[in-house]
Amino acid sequence: MDSILVTGNGPLKGQIPIAGAKNACLTLMPATMLSEEPLTLTNAPRLSDIRTMTTLLQSLGAEVSTLQDGQVLAMSSHDINNHTADYDIVRKMRASILVLGPMLARDGHAVVSLPGGCAIGARPVDLHLKALEALGAQLDLKDGYVHAKAPLGGLKGGVIDFPLVSVGATENALMAATLAKGTTIINNAAREPEIVDLAQCLRKMGAQIEGEGTSTITIQGVDRLHGATHPVVTDRIELGTYMLAPAICGGEVELLGGKRSLIEAFCNKLEAAGVEITENENSLTVRRGDNRVKAVDVVTEPFPGFPTDLQAQMMALMCTAEGTSVLEEKIFENRFMHAPELIRMGAQIDVQGGHATVTGVEGLKGAPVMATDLRASVSLILAGLAAEGETTVSRVYHLDRGYEHVVRKLSSVGAKIERIQEQ
Ligand code: EPZ
Repeated sequence: MDSILVTGNGPLKGQIPIAGAKNACLTLMPATMLSEEPLTLTNAPRLSDIRTMTTLLQSLGAEVSTLQDGQVLAMSSHDINNHTADYDIVRKMRASILVLGPMLARDGHAVVSLPGGCAIGARPVDLHLKALEALGAQLDLKDGYVHAKAPLGGLKGGVIDFPLVSVGATENALMAATLAKGTTIINNAAREPEIVDLAQCLRKMGAQIEGEGTSTITIQGVDRLHGATHPVVTDRIELGTYMLAPAICGGEVELLGGKRSLIEAFCNKLEAAGVEITENENSLTVRRGDNRVKAVDVVTEPFPGFPTDLQAQMMALMCTAEGTSVLEEKIFENRFMHAPELIRMGAQIDVQGGHATVTGVEGLKGAPVMATDLRASVSLILAGLAAEGETTVSRVYHLDRGYEHVVRKLSSVGAKIERIQEQ
């Protein structure tokens, strides 16, 4: 298992290009199942999760070609010849559940393995299943698999009332409803930019959708969808992560492709902490001089609130802040596993249930630490950039799931960072 060695090296300077969004691409790819015509995604990120989704779609009979150094995904699911998403693939990546809605809507039947446990929380899929039942599907759980059947003539439009906001369940319902007979209304829908991106792509394929980005989405089902080409939206979580690099180390970095509207709540917190953000035509510039960041409180919420996927990285910054901050994690019940690792680097953090109280320290010290999940891994790298001496982050396979070329991107702005291949 590779690890990453980071040595604190002072202020950063330069430009970092931001890739397409993992969490948009992972829902756009299954949308290919909704049509027999080709769907091409441009600006696709080059990540292990995208390769896992590729393997899954290919196992169902779809063709997926990776072009232009991996940034273009040319897909066609003309010949779907297998309707079972196998546990061996699904256990690697929960987003695999997103093939359920499209496959059911397209061919009226699907068998998908339940994703199983996750480091950051229980993460059930009950809302996905309830949404498809509201469209007339019959679902049976057997041997760890969901066996789904549409009524004769296919799924039927219906009203879906989500008791809590779920990104994935909204995506599954939205995709399935595009081919359901009649009108579907999704209430308390997720409003994330990845949902908006999915709706825009589906509309290009001929779907009739209104209200994406709001809490109520209305879909008029159509008989068939056609092919399209669609650019994947910028990755707002990668964007926020790299904005924190000059925030924690000082300096000035321009994030190419960055847009403030994708992470407004996060930008507001960063500015409240004393970091300068400038929006340019097609980038964001982040500056921090010699001033020490100030402690700010954070509560994670569904979009447009503060994203849970930036909580760990924000905690790394708060470890060096002036004063005490409280971070409340409201989305996942077990998403503070980076805290004990940051404490190994000299941070002062007290975790009580869903609240973490961080008392800022003058400086962190490098140490060997271990990544426990995707966002925790990059928060340790950020802390290492600001720490005195060397930090070695192990288990970086977590990182490869959601960040492409971390070492190259951070080195290009002056960070001292390298990947160590295990012998
Ligand atoms: C998506 O996960 C993202 N993953 C997550 O990013 C992100 O943290 C999360 O949304 C919240 O923003 C992808 O898009 C692939 P949810 P998802 O359904 O769809 C509960 C990363 O780091 N829930 O919005 O799985 C659930 O347990 C990842 O890139 C149910 O109870 O998240 C959680 O507490 C991590 N039943 C809450 O809802 C359900 O059927 C929100 O989960 C579904 C969800």
